Amino acid sequence: MILLKFYERILRLKKIEIRTQSKNYKVIIGNNSIKEFASEHRKSDGKKLFVLDKNVYRLHKSKLDELVKQSNSSLTHIFHSTEKNKTLNSVQKIYDILLKNNFSRRDSLVAIGGGIVGDVTGFAAATFMRGIDYYQIPTTLLSMVDSSVGGKTGVNYSKVKNLIGSFYQPQKVYVDISFLSTLPNKEIYSGAGEIFKYAFLSDEENYLLIRDGLKAILNQNQFDEELIAKCIKLKAAVVENDEQEKSGLRKILNLGHTFAHAFESTINFRIKHGEAVIAGIFASLIVSEKVGLINKNDLNKYLTDFYFLPLNKEIVKADRSEIIKFMKSDKKSSQGKIQLVLASKPGEIFIDFHVSEKIIKYALNKLFEIIGTV
Ligand SMILES: NC(=O)c1ccc[n+]([C@@H]2O[C@H](COP(=O)([O-])OP(=O)(O)OC[C@H]3O[C@@H](n4cnc5c(N)ncnc54)[C@H](O)[C@@H]3O)[C@@H](O)[C@H]2O)c1
Repeated sequence: MILLKFYERILRLKKIEIRTQSKNYKVIIGNNSIKEFASEHRKSDGKKLFVLDKNVYRLHKSKLDELVKQSNSSLTHIFHSTEKNKTLNSVQKIYDILLKNNFSRRDSLVAIGGGIVGDVTGFAAATFMRGIDYYQIPTTLLSMVDSSVGGKTGVNYSKVKNLIGSFYQPQKVYVDISFLSTLPNKEIYSGAGEIFKYAFLSDEENYLLIRDGLKAILNQNQFDEELIAKCIKLKAAVVENDEQEKSGLRKILNLGHTFAHAFESTINFRIKHGEAVIAGIFASLIVSEKVGLINKNDLNKYLTDFYFLPLNKEIVKADRSEIIKFMKSDKKSSQGKIQLVLASKPGEIFIDFHVSEKIIKYALNKLFEIIGTV
């Protein structure tokens, strides 16, 4: 009976295989998938350092205590996830624990939290003794659909986001949907922004499924494993073909992001990244119409399809010339020229598209008008 239950649980879990040049690994998705972690690691003899997001630990204490207890020779490090703490100093604190406890290349790190814990822990793993294993257990919507997969690790430096980092893939990713029950709305919006971009990285059919999945998340707080798996598969397909952002393909994941980073910087990060991405994708679609990649009818259809997404009114307080200044200094732009990722339809993405300042101003005016009316 117990065995049957066990298999039932295994069968219910979705598994995605990621094949990159540097490593192949699995992503396991399901309710309570961290139980898989416990059963897989119970007998392993290597030591483990669990880096736990402070809020996640507070909200899921008994479940996490149980997980840590079940793993052999395990230690915990509680981490307060803020962009201010996403630093080399925090990485050093992890090195100190590893050193003090004689961690070797046989041992590993486990990141439990959102993208910040994942990026910091991944970077510590990538650099300690030239690389030790690490596992990702993402707990925010954003980290489930995006940051836990793909191997980008790193920290902020000298006020520049993610300036120091490496590409270093995890050993395995356990996406446990049950963590989302405690996620605040703001963080849900943040994940929604990244899911929105996948609607355009896919085909017409998936575009509709992603739109409906997003509606279910925002209106009914319903998190569909299928939707999360779909997003991970889309990210995996990109990462597998351009692991280190060399061919340019990986740039398609930046749809809406040049606008988004400029919005965030101009209003001093008073909005969540995903909220900025939502507005950024709207603005990019407006640009796509203006440069002739899509017609007016299709633009209106795409905008109305996603009008239910939250548009943060803080954005309209941003100074338009400041936004343009930030966009020119974006690492994706070259020699002061603004280069954008644009979409002509779901599945058709253009990278490195040069766009004039005049068109950016036009898009900002139209976007601000839309935000003003919602
Ligand atoms: N590596 C990548 O490919 C990649 C991709 C996108 C973003 N990122 C990075 O990810 C970071 C953002 O990640 P994020 O949005 O997951 O934010 P985060 O890690 O800052 O977490 C957001 C907040 O949610 C809390 N939290 C986490 N899980 C929770 C839960 N289940 N219940 C209640 N509260 C919970 C955290 O304590 C924190 O306060 C940024 O630093 C960004 O640069 C990395």
